[in-house]
Amino acid sequence: MAGLFITLEGPECAGKSTQLKLLADYLTQNCWNVLCTREPGGTTLAEDIRNMLLEKRNEDIAPETELLLFAASRAQHVRQVILPHLDKGGAVICDRFIDSTTAYQGYARGLSIDFINQLNDYCVCGRNPDITLLFDLPVEETWRRLTLRSGGKGGDRMESQGNAFHTAVRNGFLQIAQQHPQRIHVLDAMQSIEDIAARVRNIVGK
Ligand SMILES: Nc1ncnc2c1ncn2[C@@H]1O[C@H](COP(=O)(O)OP(=O)(O)O)[C@@H](O)[C@H]1O
Ligand SMILES: [Mg+2]
Repeated sequence: MAGLFITLEGPECAGKSTQLKLLADYLTQNCWNVLCTREPGGTTLAEDIRNMLLEKRNEDIAPETELLLFAASRAQHVRQVILPHLDKGGAVICDRFIDSTTAYQGYARGLSIDFINQLNDYCVCGRNPDITLLFDLPVEETWRRLTLRSGGKGGDRMESQGNAFHTAVRNGFLQIAQQHPQRIHVLDAMQSIEDIAARVRNIVGK
């Protein structure tokens, strides 16, 4: 399989964006042509879909609609951006990917996980990530970091979901990791940024 495809997963504030930058630097130093991207988004159309999903006035979106919009965004992103870069032998690092859909729409919202697995397969054209880094964080720490980041007011969208939802997301991610022990590496996101970065370099270096 051409190229190197790495995805970063985990709840909000787990350090995905922080570690993505450090990993991109590491791979660049090791002579990889690195493309950093994110989901939902990554292409003009997919960013439009992202904005639709995040708009306050679309808050009454049905879970099924949300799932299909995420899938539409991914199908475009994979075909237009990810696969062409991998085919050229490059490295792609993507902030959130298929496992976020399974954790949020499947485990937390309760949509069919079998259906989501099929939909994910359909979107990725048979090119699953080579390595997935799952940053695992207790829900209380997510709240603490969110509050810090937003200067006292927790994130709106996250707040409206409540603790039960976020606990289901976390447990969902951990279950997905157990089902894909070859691909998914669970990292303790409570460690220091530098310790986590060293562990990431160790996993990816191998
Ligand atoms: N290992 C860590 N320990 C403590 N704080 C961290 C750690 N990693 C990231 N942070 C902080 O947590 C916040 C969210 O980090 P970020 O990388 O944006 O997470 P994400 O992209 O997963 O939402 C930022 O303020 C960041 O500085
Ligand atoms: Mg981020």
